[in-house]
Amino acid sequence: LRASFAVRAEKQNQRLENRFQPQASAFKVAILGAAGGIGQPLALLVKMSPLVSALHLYDIANVKGVAADLSHCNTPSQVLDFTGQSELGNSLKGVDVVVIPAGVPRKPGMTRDDLFNINANIVKTLIEAVADNCPDAFIHIISNPVNSTVPIAAEILKQKGVYNPKKLFGVTTLDVVRANTFVAQKKNLKLIDVDVPVVGGHAGITILPLLSKTRPSVSFTDQEIDELTVRIQNAGTEVVEAKAGAGSATLSMAYAAARFVESSLRALDGDADVYECSFIQSELTDLPFFASRVKIGKEGVEAVISSDLQGLTEYETKALEALKPELKASIEKGVTFAQKKE
Ligand code: NAI
Repeated sequence: LRASFAVRAEKQNQRLENRFQPQASAFKVAILGAAGGIGQPLALLVKMSPLVSALHLYDIANVKGVAADLSHCNTPSQVLDFTGQSELGNSLKGVDVVVIPAGVPRKPGMTRDDLFNINANIVKTLIEAVADNCPDAFIHIISNPVNSTVPIAAEILKQKGVYNPKKLFGVTTLDVVRANTFVAQKKNLKLIDVDVPVVGGHAGITILPLLSKTRPSVSFTDQEIDELTVRIQNAGTEVVEAKAGAGSATLSMAYAAARFVESSLRALDGDADVYECSFIQSELTDLPFFASRVKIGKEGVEAVISSDLQGLTEYETKALEALKPELKASIEKGVTFAQKKE
Protein backbone atom coordinates (compact mmCIF):
# COMPACT_ATOMS: atom_id res chain seq x y z
CA LEU A 1 0.00 0.00 0.00
CA ARG A 2 2.81 2.37 0.97
CA ALA A 3 4.54 1.67 -2.36
CA SER A 4 1.41 2.47 -4.33
CA PHE A 5 1.06 5.77 -2.46
CA ALA A 6 4.68 6.58 -3.29
CA VAL A 7 4.07 5.87 -7.00
CA ARG A 8 0.96 8.02 -6.99
CA ALA A 9 2.79 10.89 -5.23
CA GLU A 10 5.64 10.62 -7.72
CA LYS A 11 3.19 10.85 -10.64
CA GLN A 12 1.44 13.81 -9.09
CA ASN A 13 4.76 15.62 -8.63
CA GLN A 14 5.62 14.91 -12.25
CA ARG A 15 2.29 16.38 -13.38
CA LEU A 16 2.81 19.51 -11.26
CA GLU A 17 6.34 19.92 -12.54
CA ASN A 18 5.19 19.61 -16.14
CA ARG A 19 2.53 22.21 -15.50
CA PHE A 20 5.01 24.66 -14.05
CA GLN A 21 7.88 24.12 -16.50
CA PRO A 22 9.42 27.52 -17.21
CA GLN A 23 8.58 28.77 -20.70
CA ALA A 24 10.83 30.41 -23.25
CA SER A 25 9.45 33.85 -22.48
CA ALA A 26 9.02 34.84 -18.89
CA PHE A 27 7.98 38.13 -17.41
CA LYS A 28 8.48 40.14 -14.25
CA VAL A 29 5.41 41.24 -12.33
CA ALA A 30 5.34 43.72 -9.43
CA ILE A 31 2.46 43.95 -6.96
CA LEU A 32 2.30 47.20 -4.96
CA GLY A 33 0.23 46.67 -1.81
CA ALA A 34 1.16 42.98 -1.83
CA ALA A 35 0.58 42.33 1.88
CA GLY A 36 -3.07 43.39 1.75
CA GLY A 37 -6.36 41.56 1.47
CA ILE A 38 -6.18 41.53 -2.32
CA GLY A 39 -2.39 41.57 -2.59
CA GLN A 40 -1.78 38.25 -0.83
CA PRO A 41 -4.16 35.96 -2.74
CA LEU A 42 -3.27 37.82 -5.95
CA ALA A 43 0.42 37.12 -5.33
CA LEU A 44 -0.40 33.44 -4.81
CA LEU A 45 -2.34 33.22 -8.08
CA VAL A 46 0.37 35.07 -10.02
CA LYS A 47 2.98 32.74 -8.46
CA MET A 48 1.16 29.90 -10.23
CA SER A 49 1.58 31.43 -13.69
CA PRO A 50 4.09 29.65 -15.90
CA LEU A 51 4.64 32.95 -17.75
CA VAL A 52 6.19 34.68 -14.72
CA SER A 53 9.93 34.54 -13.96
CA ALA A 54 9.99 37.00 -11.07
CA LEU A 55 7.38 38.28 -8.67
CA HIS A 56 8.24 41.53 -6.87
CA LEU A 57 6.15 42.12 -3.77
CA TYR A 58 6.07 45.67 -2.40
CA ASP A 59 4.22 47.07 0.62
CA ILE A 60 4.82 49.58 3.38
CA ALA A 61 4.72 46.74 5.97
CA ASN A 62 4.38 42.97 6.50
CA VAL A 63 5.59 41.88 3.09
CA LYS A 64 8.66 39.88 4.19
CA GLY A 65 6.58 37.08 5.63
CA VAL A 66 4.26 36.94 2.64
CA ALA A 67 7.26 36.61 0.31
CA ALA A 68 8.98 33.97 2.48
CA ASP A 69 5.77 31.95 2.57
CA LEU A 70 5.11 32.17 -1.18
CA SER A 71 8.71 31.45 -2.10
CA HIS A 72 8.29 27.86 -0.86
CA CYS A 73 5.79 27.03 -3.63
CA ASN A 74 7.61 24.93 -6.23
CA THR A 75 6.64 27.01 -9.24
CA PRO A 76 9.29 28.67 -11.42
CA SER A 77 9.00 32.34 -10.45
CA GLN A 78 11.42 33.86 -7.99
CA VAL A 79 9.78 35.91 -5.21
CA LEU A 80 11.46 39.10 -3.95
CA ASP A 81 10.21 41.40 -1.20
CA PHE A 82 10.54 45.17 -0.92
CA THR A 83 9.44 47.21 2.10
CA GLY A 84 8.86 50.94 2.34
CA GLN A 85 9.50 53.95 0.14
CA SER A 86 13.27 53.45 0.08
CA GLU A 87 12.84 50.08 -1.68
CA LEU A 88 10.00 51.11 -3.98
CA GLY A 89 12.24 52.04 -6.92
CA ASN A 90 14.10 48.72 -6.83
CA SER A 91 10.83 46.79 -6.75
CA LEU A 92 9.97 48.29 -10.14
CA LYS A 93 13.22 47.92 -12.07
CA GLY A 94 12.87 45.73 -15.17
CA VAL A 95 9.24 44.96 -14.51
CA ASP A 96 6.81 44.18 -17.38
CA VAL A 97 3.51 44.46 -15.49
CA VAL A 98 2.79 46.53 -12.36
CA VAL A 99 -0.39 45.79 -10.43
CA ILE A 100 -1.57 48.32 -7.84
CA PRO A 101 -4.00 47.13 -5.13
CA ALA A 102 -2.53 49.50 -2.50
CA GLY A 103 -4.87 51.61 -0.41
CA VAL A 104 -7.77 51.45 1.98
CA PRO A 105 -10.92 49.42 1.20
CA ARG A 106 -14.56 50.36 1.92
CA LYS A 107 -16.45 49.75 5.15
CA PRO A 108 -20.26 49.44 5.32
CA GLY A 109 -21.97 52.71 4.40
CA MET A 110 -19.02 54.01 2.37
CA THR A 111 -18.96 54.68 -1.36
CA ARG A 112 -15.80 54.13 -3.39
CA ASP A 113 -15.51 57.91 -3.65
CA ASP A 114 -15.20 58.14 0.16
CA LEU A 115 -11.77 56.51 -0.27
CA PHE A 116 -10.58 59.29 -2.56
CA ASN A 117 -8.52 61.38 -0.14
CA ILE A 118 -6.31 58.54 1.09
CA ASN A 119 -6.02 56.46 -2.05
CA ALA A 120 -5.43 59.38 -4.43
CA ASN A 121 -2.20 60.22 -2.60
CA ILE A 122 -1.09 56.58 -2.46
CA VAL A 123 -1.66 56.09 -6.20
CA LYS A 124 0.12 59.37 -6.98
CA THR A 125 3.24 58.31 -5.04
CA LEU A 126 3.33 54.85 -6.57
CA ILE A 127 2.81 56.07 -10.13
CA GLU A 128 5.63 58.61 -9.75
CA ALA A 129 7.92 55.69 -8.94
CA VAL A 130 6.55 53.66 -11.87
CA ALA A 131 7.27 56.62 -14.19
CA ASP A 132 10.85 56.84 -12.91
CA ASN A 133 11.65 53.13 -12.93
CA CYS A 134 9.55 51.18 -15.46
CA PRO A 135 7.75 53.66 -17.73
CA ASP A 136 7.18 51.00 -20.42
CA ALA A 137 5.37 48.54 -18.15
CA PHE A 138 1.68 47.70 -18.37
CA ILE A 139 0.04 49.38 -15.35
CA HIS A 140 -3.02 47.79 -13.73
CA ILE A 141 -4.86 50.05 -11.26
CA ILE A 142 -7.09 48.30 -8.73
CA SER A 143 -7.12 50.96 -5.97
CA ASN A 144 -10.50 52.67 -5.68
CA PRO A 145 -12.13 54.88 -6.77
CA VAL A 146 -10.87 53.49 -10.11
CA ASN A 147 -12.98 56.13 -11.95
CA SER A 148 -10.63 58.76 -10.43
CA THR A 149 -7.38 56.89 -9.72
CA VAL A 150 -6.84 56.01 -13.40
CA PRO A 151 -7.14 59.68 -14.51
CA ILE A 152 -4.77 60.59 -11.63
CA ALA A 153 -2.25 58.04 -12.88
CA ALA A 154 -2.56 59.39 -16.44
CA GLU A 155 -1.91 62.97 -15.28
CA ILE A 156 1.13 61.99 -13.19
CA LEU A 157 2.58 60.01 -16.10
CA LYS A 158 1.97 63.01 -18.39
CA GLN A 159 3.76 65.31 -15.93
CA LYS A 160 6.69 62.90 -16.01
CA GLY A 161 6.61 62.85 -19.84
CA VAL A 162 6.09 59.07 -20.07
CA TYR A 163 2.33 58.64 -20.49
CA ASN A 164 1.36 55.85 -22.87
CA PRO A 165 -2.45 55.57 -22.82
CA LYS A 166 -2.25 52.11 -24.38
CA LYS A 167 -0.54 50.74 -21.28
CA LEU A 168 -2.62 52.23 -18.47
CA PHE A 169 -5.51 49.98 -17.42
CA GLY A 170 -8.18 50.39 -14.73
CA VAL A 171 -9.04 46.87 -13.57
CA THR A 172 -12.79 46.29 -14.01
CA THR A 173 -12.47 42.54 -14.56
CA LEU A 174 -14.34 41.82 -11.33
CA ASP A 175 -17.47 43.41 -12.80
CA VAL A 176 -17.25 41.02 -15.76
CA VAL A 177 -16.54 38.04 -13.50
CA ARG A 178 -19.60 38.91 -11.38
CA ALA A 179 -21.81 39.50 -14.42
CA ASN A 180 -20.79 36.15 -15.92
CA THR A 181 -21.47 34.33 -12.63
CA PHE A 182 -24.86 35.93 -11.95
CA VAL A 183 -26.12 35.51 -15.53
CA ALA A 184 -25.03 31.86 -15.66
CA GLN A 185 -26.80 31.19 -12.34
CA LYS A 186 -29.99 32.96 -13.38
CA LYS A 187 -30.22 31.32 -16.81
CA ASN A 188 -28.81 27.92 -15.84
CA LEU A 189 -25.93 28.18 -18.28
CA LYS A 190 -22.52 26.55 -18.16
CA LEU A 191 -20.39 29.21 -16.48
CA ILE A 192 -17.35 28.68 -18.63
CA ASP A 193 -19.27 29.71 -21.76
CA VAL A 194 -20.82 32.94 -20.50
CA ASP A 195 -19.30 36.31 -21.36
CA VAL A 196 -20.99 39.62 -20.57
CA PRO A 197 -19.25 42.87 -21.59
CA VAL A 198 -19.39 45.49 -18.83
CA VAL A 199 -18.79 49.10 -19.87
CA GLY A 200 -18.70 52.58 -18.31
CA GLY A 201 -16.79 52.81 -15.05
CA HIS A 202 -16.29 50.98 -11.76
CA ALA A 203 -18.72 52.42 -9.19
CA GLY A 204 -22.49 52.14 -8.69
CA ILE A 205 -24.51 53.15 -11.74
CA THR A 206 -21.36 53.78 -13.78
CA ILE A 207 -21.02 49.97 -13.98
CA LEU A 208 -23.12 49.05 -17.03
CA PRO A 209 -23.41 45.36 -17.94
CA LEU A 210 -24.51 45.02 -21.57
CA LEU A 211 -26.76 42.03 -21.07
CA SER A 212 -28.05 42.25 -24.65
CA LYS A 213 -24.49 41.46 -25.79
CA THR A 214 -24.15 38.33 -23.63
CA ARG A 215 -22.49 35.44 -25.38
CA PRO A 216 -23.94 32.90 -25.98
CA SER A 217 -27.01 34.89 -26.93
CA VAL A 218 -29.63 34.76 -24.13
CA SER A 219 -33.00 36.43 -23.78
CA PHE A 220 -34.02 38.14 -20.55
CA THR A 221 -37.33 39.51 -19.30
CA ASP A 222 -37.39 43.23 -18.38
CA GLN A 223 -37.50 42.23 -14.73
CA GLU A 224 -34.48 39.94 -15.09
CA ILE A 225 -32.52 42.72 -16.79
CA ASP A 226 -33.32 45.16 -14.03
CA GLU A 227 -32.53 42.69 -11.23
CA LEU A 228 -29.27 41.50 -12.80
CA THR A 229 -28.07 45.02 -13.61
CA VAL A 230 -28.72 46.26 -10.08
CA ARG A 231 -27.10 43.17 -8.54
CA ILE A 232 -23.96 43.52 -10.68
CA GLN A 233 -23.74 47.24 -9.82
CA ASN A 234 -24.13 46.56 -6.09
CA ALA A 235 -22.16 43.31 -5.86
CA GLY A 236 -19.21 45.05 -4.22
CA THR A 237 -21.51 46.47 -1.55
CA GLU A 238 -23.02 42.98 -1.04
CA VAL A 239 -19.51 41.80 -0.02
CA VAL A 240 -18.72 44.93 2.05
CA GLU A 241 -21.92 44.38 4.07
CA ALA A 242 -21.34 40.63 4.50
CA LYS A 243 -17.81 41.34 5.77
CA ALA A 244 -19.34 43.86 8.20
CA GLY A 245 -16.37 46.17 8.62
CA ALA A 246 -13.61 43.72 7.77
CA GLY A 247 -13.07 45.12 4.27
CA SER A 248 -14.33 44.65 0.73
CA ALA A 249 -13.96 41.98 -1.95
CA THR A 250 -10.49 40.46 -1.78
CA LEU A 251 -10.67 36.84 -2.99
CA SER A 252 -12.90 37.36 -6.02
CA MET A 253 -10.92 40.54 -6.73
CA ALA A 254 -7.64 38.64 -6.59
CA TYR A 255 -9.11 36.04 -8.95
CA ALA A 256 -10.23 38.77 -11.37
CA ALA A 257 -6.92 40.66 -11.16
CA ALA A 258 -4.97 37.43 -11.75
CA ARG A 259 -7.06 36.81 -14.86
CA PHE A 260 -6.22 40.32 -16.09
CA VAL A 261 -2.50 39.80 -15.36
CA GLU A 262 -2.54 36.46 -17.19
CA SER A 263 -4.29 38.05 -20.18
CA SER A 264 -1.69 40.82 -20.27
CA LEU A 265 1.16 38.32 -20.08
CA ARG A 266 -0.35 36.25 -22.89
CA ALA A 267 -0.61 39.42 -24.97
CA LEU A 268 3.01 40.34 -24.20
CA ASP A 269 3.95 36.79 -25.15
CA GLY A 270 2.48 37.28 -28.64
CA ASP A 271 -0.99 35.74 -28.29
CA ALA A 272 -3.09 37.59 -30.86
CA ASP A 273 -6.45 36.67 -29.34
CA VAL A 274 -6.63 38.51 -26.02
CA TYR A 275 -9.75 40.50 -25.15
CA GLU A 276 -10.69 41.99 -21.77
CA CYS A 277 -12.85 44.81 -20.47
CA SER A 278 -10.87 47.67 -18.94
CA PHE A 279 -11.24 51.33 -17.93
CA ILE A 280 -8.89 53.21 -20.25
CA GLN A 281 -8.41 56.51 -22.02
CA SER A 282 -10.99 56.20 -24.76
CA GLU A 283 -12.69 57.91 -27.67
CA LEU A 284 -15.66 55.56 -27.65
CA THR A 285 -17.93 58.17 -26.01
CA ASP A 286 -17.60 61.87 -25.25
CA LEU A 287 -15.90 60.97 -21.93
CA PRO A 288 -12.07 60.92 -21.83
CA PHE A 289 -11.96 57.58 -19.97
CA PHE A 290 -14.39 54.71 -20.41
CA ALA A 291 -14.45 50.98 -19.74
CA SER A 292 -15.15 48.72 -22.68
CA ARG A 293 -13.87 45.55 -24.27
CA VAL A 294 -10.40 46.01 -25.72
CA LYS A 295 -8.00 43.85 -27.68
CA ILE A 296 -4.66 43.69 -25.89
CA GLY A 297 -1.40 43.10 -27.75
CA LYS A 298 2.33 43.39 -27.12
CA GLU A 299 2.13 47.20 -27.08
CA GLY A 300 -0.95 47.38 -24.86
CA VAL A 301 -4.42 48.33 -26.11
CA GLU A 302 -4.49 47.40 -29.80
CA ALA A 303 -8.14 48.09 -30.50
CA VAL A 304 -11.28 49.22 -28.70
CA ILE A 305 -14.28 47.06 -29.52
CA SER A 306 -16.71 49.76 -30.53
CA SER A 307 -19.37 47.36 -31.81
CA ASP A 308 -20.40 46.64 -28.20
CA LEU A 309 -21.94 50.12 -28.03
CA GLN A 310 -23.88 49.70 -31.27
CA GLY A 311 -27.44 48.44 -31.28
CA LEU A 312 -27.99 48.88 -27.54
CA THR A 313 -31.44 48.27 -26.08
CA GLU A 314 -33.49 51.21 -24.84
CA TYR A 315 -32.68 50.21 -21.24
CA GLU A 316 -28.94 50.19 -21.95
CA THR A 317 -29.05 53.46 -23.93
CA LYS A 318 -30.80 55.22 -21.04
CA ALA A 319 -28.39 53.73 -18.48
CA LEU A 320 -25.43 54.84 -20.59
CA GLU A 321 -26.67 58.42 -20.68
CA ALA A 322 -27.50 58.30 -16.96
CA LEU A 323 -24.00 57.20 -15.93
CA LYS A 324 -22.14 59.89 -17.88
CA PRO A 325 -22.49 62.86 -15.45
CA GLU A 326 -21.24 60.81 -12.47
CA LEU A 327 -18.38 59.27 -14.42
CA LYS A 328 -17.41 62.66 -15.87
CA ALA A 329 -17.33 64.21 -12.37
CA SER A 330 -15.17 61.37 -11.00
CA ILE A 331 -12.71 61.70 -13.89
CA GLU A 332 -12.51 65.47 -13.41
CA LYS A 333 -12.00 65.07 -9.67
CA GLY A 334 -8.97 62.87 -10.37
CA VAL A 335 -7.53 65.23 -12.98
CA THR A 336 -7.99 68.28 -10.70
CA PHE A 337 -6.28 66.46 -7.83
CA ALA A 338 -3.28 65.51 -9.97
CA GLN A 339 -2.92 68.99 -11.48
CA LYS A 340 -3.08 70.75 -8.12
CA LYS A 341 0.22 72.41 -7.18
CA GLU A 342 1.79 71.14 -3.94
P1 NAI B 1 -6.15 46.14 2.43
O1 NAI B 1 -6.23 47.27 3.41
O2 NAI B 1 -6.39 44.77 2.90
O3 NAI B 1 -4.71 46.17 1.74
C1 NAI B 1 -4.15 47.33 1.23
C2 NAI B 1 -2.64 47.19 1.31
O4 NAI B 1 -2.09 48.40 0.77
C3 NAI B 1 -2.10 47.05 2.75
O5 NAI B 1 -1.23 45.93 2.82
C4 NAI B 1 -1.36 48.34 2.99
O6 NAI B 1 -0.22 48.22 3.81
C5 NAI B 1 -0.97 48.71 1.56
N1 NAI B 1 -0.62 50.12 1.41
C6 NAI B 1 -1.16 51.21 2.00
N2 NAI B 1 -0.50 52.32 1.62
C7 NAI B 1 0.46 51.92 0.76
C8 NAI B 1 1.46 52.58 0.03
N3 NAI B 1 1.62 53.91 0.10
N4 NAI B 1 2.26 51.86 -0.77
C9 NAI B 1 2.12 50.51 -0.86
N5 NAI B 1 1.20 49.82 -0.18
C10 NAI B 1 0.38 50.52 0.61
O7 NAI B 1 -7.14 46.52 1.21
P2 NAI B 1 -7.67 45.56 0.04
O8 NAI B 1 -8.92 44.90 0.46
O9 NAI B 1 -6.54 44.75 -0.45
O10 NAI B 1 -8.09 46.67 -1.07
C11 NAI B 1 -7.11 47.44 -1.73
C12 NAI B 1 -7.77 48.42 -2.69
O11 NAI B 1 -8.44 47.74 -3.76
C13 NAI B 1 -8.83 49.32 -2.05
O12 NAI B 1 -8.66 50.64 -2.52
C14 NAI B 1 -10.12 48.74 -2.57
O13 NAI B 1 -11.16 49.69 -2.60
C15 NAI B 1 -9.72 48.32 -3.96
N6 NAI B 1 -10.61 47.35 -4.59
C16 NAI B 1 -10.78 47.44 -5.94
C17 NAI B 1 -11.61 46.59 -6.63
C18 NAI B 1 -11.76 46.68 -8.11
O14 NAI B 1 -12.63 46.01 -8.67
N7 NAI B 1 -10.97 47.47 -8.81
C19 NAI B 1 -12.37 45.54 -5.92
C20 NAI B 1 -12.07 45.48 -4.51
C21 NAI B 1 -11.25 46.37 -3.88
